Amino acid sequence: MCGIVGYIGPKAALPFLVEGLKKLEYRGYDSAGVATLEAGELHVSKCVGKIADLETLLLTKPVPGSIGIGHTRWATHGQPSHLNSHPHEDCKSELVVVHNGIIENFLELRQELQERGHVFRSATDTEVFAHLIEENLQGDLLKAVQQALKAVKGTYALAVISKKEPGKIIAARSGSPLIIGHGEDELFIASDIPAILKYTSRVTYLDNGDVAELTPEGSRVFNLAGDPVIKEISLISWDPESAEKGGYSHFMLKEIHEQPNAIRKTIEGRVRAESHEIHFDELNLSDADIRGINRVVFTACGTSWHAGLIGEYLFEQYARLPAEVEYAAEFRYRHPIIDDKTLVVAITQSGETADTLGAVWEAKAQGARAIAICNVVGSTIAREADGVVYTNAGPEIGVASTKAFTTQLTIVYLLAIMFGQKRAILTELETAKLVNDLIEIPQKLEETLLGEPIVEEIAEKIYGATNSLYLGRGKGFPIALEGALKLKEVSYIHAEGYPAAEMKHGPIALIDKNMPVVVLAFAGRRYDKIIGNVEEVKARGGQVIAVASKGDNLIAERADEVIYIPQTTESLSPLLAVVPLQLLAYYIAVKRGCHIDQPRNLAKSVTVE
Ligand code: AGP
Repeated sequence: MCGIVGYIGPKAALPFLVEGLKKLEYRGYDSAGVATLEAGELHVSKCVGKIADLETLLLTKPVPGSIGIGHTRWATHGQPSHLNSHPHEDCKSELVVVHNGIIENFLELRQELQERGHVFRSATDTEVFAHLIEENLQGDLLKAVQQALKAVKGTYALAVISKKEPGKIIAARSGSPLIIGHGEDELFIASDIPAILKYTSRVTYLDNGDVAELTPEGSRVFNLAGDPVIKEISLISWDPESAEKGGYSHFMLKEIHEQPNAIRKTIEGRVRAESHEIHFDELNLSDADIRGINRVVFTACGTSWHAGLIGEYLFEQYARLPAEVEYAAEFRYRHPIIDDKTLVVAITQSGETADTLGAVWEAKAQGARAIAICNVVGSTIAREADGVVYTNAGPEIGVASTKAFTTQLTIVYLLAIMFGQKRAILTELETAKLVNDLIEIPQKLEETLLGEPIVEEIAEKIYGATNSLYLGRGKGFPIALEGALKLKEVSYIHAEGYPAAEMKHGPIALIDKNMPVVVLAFAGRRYDKIIGNVEEVKARGGQVIAVASKGDNLIAERADEVIYIPQTTESLSPLLAVVPLQLLAYYIAVKRGCHIDQPRNLAKSVTVE
């Protein structure tokens, strides 16, 4: 939540600050601001609203200078208002701070600072930083920041500039992500890679406790005690185009269409063509390690939790291992019973979700092996876990997760098949069939996407609904949950995902002619039962929209609308079936005029508990 950027170099800072903030807008978008330094003077511009509103303000109030910082906000402490927007200033307006994170002891610090005469202008936790640094500033901004940081409890990625030391930016990190981008004669800071991708692919990941000093001569990193820290420069392989809309009207639509290739990249290099052997060398799991694991616990939040739920089903089915999925926020505080024979698998697109990170810490503290399935290279969870498998989906900018989900699922399939193979549960023939079917999924997804116009027509018929129900059985149930979540997130229509059999234990009371009911009815052993549920909905006047396998004529006689997906093995159908539901949510949101890539109240990475 919240995104920060900074620039120091020979050019005007503002163009990068604005462009970088736009790329980080997915992290928060209720207010924004920038500050620059020129000729020893600070220039600050900030406002409530999106970066576009800030741009309009900057037309009349530009901020000059080649050193600057910026912020896009997702409010935690204090409502979105001009005063609560970042950057925040000290009493004398000599320094400004932008911050992503939460200062837990801010009330106590604020009171102490007020007692010592500091005057606060905002209701934010961040402002304490400005005053703490002010108090400690005696000719050395770096030292003042280090001293100030020692007083705070909580999480931060922050950047500070001061007119007292106009040639530098001080940046620090603890718990919230922050990177330094190394350009030709310029340096950038940002909360996430897409902000700097157009300018450089050379980055330094700051670690917790790092404090960086950026000057025109270069960057130096220290710890809080002031000792130098040696940092590496990593090369980012993402193509700058991947962070652009590329002709699509929204990132969400672009990312839906990227799924076939994203899945190809996820599979690439992980399956040996001849033997169908699956390998994840990055996990350092020997065959003996795999055989020694007696339980698998998936932990995640939101969409990633839905991928974990499918993981639970798959590990039970393919590997015959007890498996479960846990909401990260519950797991971490629940005294989970796990030990060194438990494999904890954290699933996270961003690698920054606070609860999932907490769950990884908890798992490690209990002696379990914690691995992560993650999309963002170098993210906190990727680095804190005992091993990481990257999904290779490329940057996902739309707040509603699409390609991250299907690539997470792909990894979960590969892991479950690998465990089944190594534990001698799956025969060679079964493994080969599953692997081959999985390899065919990208091409079948391309075929699925050809059904987009049908989905758009259905969206036209139901976009006025106020409630909807998504039903599925077996592996269709997690997809029902995911379809409902997508609809809620982007269209603001109330939607519930349910195991289809549970409908008659309550939700059936809601069904009437105004209630669209989306049913996952793909071919498989539960098909007849699902048809029974379709009949139950129809008998009560509900409108049924079915997602079914190609060639299923029976469903066409019963459902009001049918979206067909190509035939595949039953357990792989979720990978195809989720895509029409992503499109349905998307087109309904378009017709309702919603802010699709930045839905209200949401942020892409939830770095608060
Ligand atoms: C997905 O559409 C959501 N925006 C959200 O549920 C997300 O999946 C969740 O916050 C977890 O994020 P992560 O995968 O980055 O950890």
